[in-house]
Amino acid sequence: MSVDLQQLLELAIDLTGQAGTLVRDSRDRAITEVDTKSSSTDVVTAADKAAERLVVDGLLAARPGDAILGEESGDHAGTEVGAGTVRWILDPIDGTVNYLYGIPQYAVSLAAQIDGEMVVGVVRNPVSGEVYTAIRGGGAYRDGIRLTGPGRTELAQALVATGFAYDRQRRARQAQVVAGLLPLARDIRRFGAAALDLCAVAEGRVDAYYERGIQPWDHAAGGLVATEAGVRVAGLRGAPAGRELVLAAAPALFDTLHDTLVELGIEKV
Ligand code: IPD
Repeated sequence: MSVDLQQLLELAIDLTGQAGTLVRDSRDRAITEVDTKSSSTDVVTAADKAAERLVVDGLLAARPGDAILGEESGDHAGTEVGAGTVRWILDPIDGTVNYLYGIPQYAVSLAAQIDGEMVVGVVRNPVSGEVYTAIRGGGAYRDGIRLTGPGRTELAQALVATGFAYDRQRRARQAQVVAGLLPLARDIRRFGAAALDLCAVAEGRVDAYYERGIQPWDHAAGGLVATEAGVRVAGLRGAPAGRELVLAAAPALFDTLHDTLVELGIEKV
């Protein structure tokens, strides 16, 4: 049975809207219940858990056959798991540290994948109200405005966003790569929410974004938004974007930035 991608998109818009409202409006209460995960930088609040529950329950109610991967609760197998099954990938709050500190740069990120291919992506910033959407082959939009990616193709003129893993030793090595890149690019930004970083490339607010050690829920939806805006999104040495590297840049900048990161030792990070 073929899947109506528009229906998936509408469901994702609805559920990220509900979750975004919950997250935004429960911040005062949620940040009094904070746990750490892999390190003191890797935090989870009561709102992460409540928003994930809301979206998972909504997906299970609307589409019980689908599979779901959530940052906080892991894998949920649907009733129809097999070829052609829709698999949702959810980050209830991407940018949890920003959320904790009241920095208005965090998002609810929800993507749908079929047979390993990302087909729908929604990234919602509940504070600014901006909603980024994409359907495979249908373009990328912010609040209905078509996104066309950044224009700059020279590294020396490129504003490059990045992020850091939670492991402290990795962070030290990631800092060395940033130190090498800084004199070669226009400047570096570390906003703290990978999904929004990818959407920022899609709309040309930055020229590129890269990060090593990132999780599927961080880049699934934003990666599709960027791709559909004409941005090249890929990983290390021609591999798909993944834990080794997520690199997003205009096609004419991509190889230069990729090769520069390799020369600077990104593979040792
Ligand atoms: C984190 C953010 C951050 C990135 C980290 C992610 P989380 O996601 O996207 O910008 O640098 O790698 O883990 O933990 O806030 O959902």
